[in-house]
Amino acid sequence: MGRTKNSKPNHIAIIMDGNGRWAQEHGFPRAVGHKTGVERVREIVRASLDREIPILTLYAFSQENWKRPAEEISVLMRLLDYFLEEEAKTLVEQGVKLRILGHPEALPAPIYEKLKKVVSATSGNSRLLLNIALNYGSRSEILGAIYAIVEKAKNEPSFVTGPESLTEEKFASFLDTQGLPDPDLLIRTSGEMRLSNFLLWQLSYAEIYITKKYWPDFTADEYALAIAEYQMRDRRFGDVLV
Ligand code: IPE
Ligand code: IPE
Ligand code: MG
Repeated sequence: MGRTKNSKPNHIAIIMDGNGRWAQEHGFPRAVGHKTGVERVREIVRASLDREIPILTLYAFSQENWKRPAEEISVLMRLLDYFLEEEAKTLVEQGVKLRILGHPEALPAPIYEKLKKVVSATSGNSRLLLNIALNYGSRSEILGAIYAIVEKAKNEPSFVTGPESLTEEKFASFLDTQGLPDPDLLIRTSGEMRLSNFLLWQLSYAEIYITKKYWPDFTADEYALAIAEYQMRDRRFGDVLV
């Protein structure tokens, strides 16, 4: 292996994909794939803490995932509920701060209440920021930002005085990821080569790592491989390397 080119990523985003196919290949119902996927969430959170990764963003449920059969959606909601119930204490103890991206208010009310509780219980933590994207869609996030900016400009005309006054930084402050640095590394499991409406603005210069491993097989060792590959990449940001 050559010389490391980048220090460890500051912000890692993951599209956790392939639970269904993993289950199918093992002859299990899809629900078993989702359940095993939750174990990997725990493992990757722990691995992020061990490796001192400051920010981890997990895509758990997209706006488009509502198209799935009601039975599967209810399995996913039950697992989320169970995760919050089981993990709340551990997250507090581990120093993890939970933040939600997307529209969690449209999730079943008891889950939304639990989410708010865990977000507030972990708000003082700072070892790892764990963002979970729930009922998230990047295009609607961007449209929401535009709408909020238009509203603000109506009430406060000095806020946007011309195209150049709306900087990228100002615009980004209206996104769900407000205040966060962009992801350095995007990991997608299960071999699919698409973004599926995830962080379209924020991933502009992320290094993309796609593995054929299904999410239930994405262990801490697989995570280490992704990080090691990231560290070998040339990041140019449009510039030339000297
Ligand atoms: C990822 O696994 C979990 C969610 C999208 C909620 P999938 O359920 O998409 O699994 P595949 O892609 O059908 O195998
Ligand atoms: C992306 O996976 C969404 C999440 C991982 C939550 P999907 O399985 O929904 O993506 P597509 O439908 O294959 O693009
Ligand atoms: Mg999928």
